[in-house]
Amino acid sequence: MADPSVPLIEIQDLSKSYFNDGVETPVLFHLNLKIHKGEFVAIMGPSGSGKSTLMQILGFLDAHTNGEYIFQGEPTQALDDDALARIRATRVSFVFQAFNLLPRTTVLQNVMLPLIYHPTIPSGERQKRAERAIELVGLTPRTDYLSSQLSGGQKQRVAIARALVTNPDVIFADEPTGNLDSASGVAVMQALKKLNDDGHTIILVTHELGTAQHAKRIIRIKDGHVESDTSDFTRLNTESAHNLK
Ligand SMILES: Nc1ncnc2c1ncn2[C@@H]1O[C@H](COP(=O)(O)OP(=O)(O)OP(=O)(O)O)[C@@H](O)[C@H]1O
Ligand SMILES: [Mg+2]
Repeated sequence: MADPSVPLIEIQDLSKSYFNDGVETPVLFHLNLKIHKGEFVAIMGPSGSGKSTLMQILGFLDAHTNGEYIFQGEPTQALDDDALARIRATRVSFVFQAFNLLPRTTVLQNVMLPLIYHPTIPSGERQKRAERAIELVGLTPRTDYLSSQLSGGQKQRVAIARALVTNPDVIFADEPTGNLDSASGVAVMQALKKLNDDGHTIILVTHELGTAQHAKRIIRIKDGHVESDTSDFTRLNTESAHNLK
């Protein structure tokens, strides 16, 4: 088992620039963060501040430019493409604002999809695992519906079941309630909260303080810097009340 004192995610002095046709766009500057197993973290900040970029780096979808990214105690710098592909398939999962489900495909098939590429879960176990994930997000009665026959909130809960089915070490959710009305958004956040109560690590990006407050820790990014990092929600509520004045 992993040593619980070792952070799941640690970044040291991490910076990121995009390069297009020789033009550098610096986006993240000298970030330092530690996130432990079992945390539920919300990343907040204005549009363009670098939230999605940070999440894509932490989720192995993009590479940083300088500094260190240490995942479960191991520097990621030296990982080759095979090792990265394996981490993407088994250790991390994503939930996006746009759901990204296959439309003419059932809920069950959508949720089973990540298991097809999974190196260690036997094919005989796939359906059972998918059914369990669907049950966890409260959609068992919709198992055989096509994803196009679901509401937005239900689609996002299918996306959460699909993210969960591989039993990843961390689930990343980038604006998962961004396309939803507030009641569906609350149902999605409750599904994520339940996963966190079951021990899953969740890192969420959101613009909305109400959504972020389902998390246990809020990291605010501004212009590519960590502006604040707090688990003290009394202070946070006072601050936000102040900001609304
Ligand atoms: N491929 C790219 N090439 C160049 N610049 C990029 C690229 N992707 C993102 N950026 C720039 O990086 C900055 C941060 O973008 P990012 O998508 O991380 O912001 P964000 O905080 O997620 O914003 P939002 O809340 O609008 O989703 C922006 O200024 C953006 O223009
Ligand atoms: Mg974004």
